[in-house]
Amino acid sequence: MTTEETAGTVCRRLVGRTAVITGAGSGIGLATAHRLASEGANVVCGDIDEEAGKAAAEAVGGTFAKVDVTDPEEVEALFRTAFETYGSVDVAFNNAGISPPDDDSILETGLEAWRRVQDVNLTSVYLCCKAALPYMRRQGRGSIINTASFVAIMGAATSQISYTASKGGVLAMSRELGVQFAREGIRVNALCPGPVDTPLLRELFAADPERAARRLVHIPVGRFARADEIAAAVAFLASDDSSFVNATDFLVDGGISGAYVTPL
Ligand SMILES: NC(=O)c1ccc[n+]([C@@H]2O[C@H](COP(=O)([O-])OP(=O)(O)OC[C@H]3O[C@@H](n4cnc5c(N)ncnc54)[C@H](O)[C@@H]3O)[C@@H](O)[C@H]2O)c1
Repeated sequence: MTTEETAGTVCRRLVGRTAVITGAGSGIGLATAHRLASEGANVVCGDIDEEAGKAAAEAVGGTFAKVDVTDPEEVEALFRTAFETYGSVDVAFNNAGISPPDDDSILETGLEAWRRVQDVNLTSVYLCCKAALPYMRRQGRGSIINTASFVAIMGAATSQISYTASKGGVLAMSRELGVQFAREGIRVNALCPGPVDTPLLRELFAADPERAARRLVHIPVGRFARADEIAAAVAFLASDDSSFVNATDFLVDGGISGAYVTPL
């Protein structure tokens, strides 16, 4: 997938802007690295997976920074790298997250799994916002996009309890930051993707078509999202086209959360 292919049409809204992306080595983060670079941004690709993160940075002509988003010093170094390399921090896409199999029903999920998921999905967003904000405040400009999920808005009987709770925390934190820093020219939004057609999901559902069908029936559009469709929403939130969009739960879910029944 080339940068041009993911961008679709030519759109250059981020020329001269610097974007930091966590979890840039795979999935939504990778598609977003392509999209933001195609719109002219300098992209800093942060990931704990050195090989995938480096490959992403190379593919988009950006900079790789190895980071464990649960480590405060590494997170600070990530944003410092962006500033020292490109001179500004304009966009923070705080996106890295996990959904491990041992995070399940509350009846099965132990405290260790609960805490691990909270650390990677929620505490990381706190750390990334805390590290990005000083740069943005000095500039009087910035857009922070924190990846939550549609499950922060809807309940599921097939629970991943810590994941869902962590994403709810991302929503509440993003809203409050968006309000607090609005008059300093900084917008903070939570992105709520619906299920995305990732290799992992495809593999899972190829093995169990009944499970796939059970989920697809709830999606008015009738399919999962493509990662580049989520990336397009991030590009909008990162750019000045969304200058009056702030403190939102920005749903990109194909209508899932709006549906009572879906069309046949
Ligand atoms: N895929 C979906 O259907 C979906 C739906 C809604 C929300 N989300 C959210 O979108 C985000 C991205 O999901 P994805 O499907 O692209 O995931 P992915 O697994 O494809 O990519 C996640 C990336 O984050 C990195 N990462 C994991 N732990 C890290 C850590 N501690 N420090 C730094 N990097 C780390 C991984 O190495 C990987 O490159 C996550 O926050 C996820 O919860 C995904």
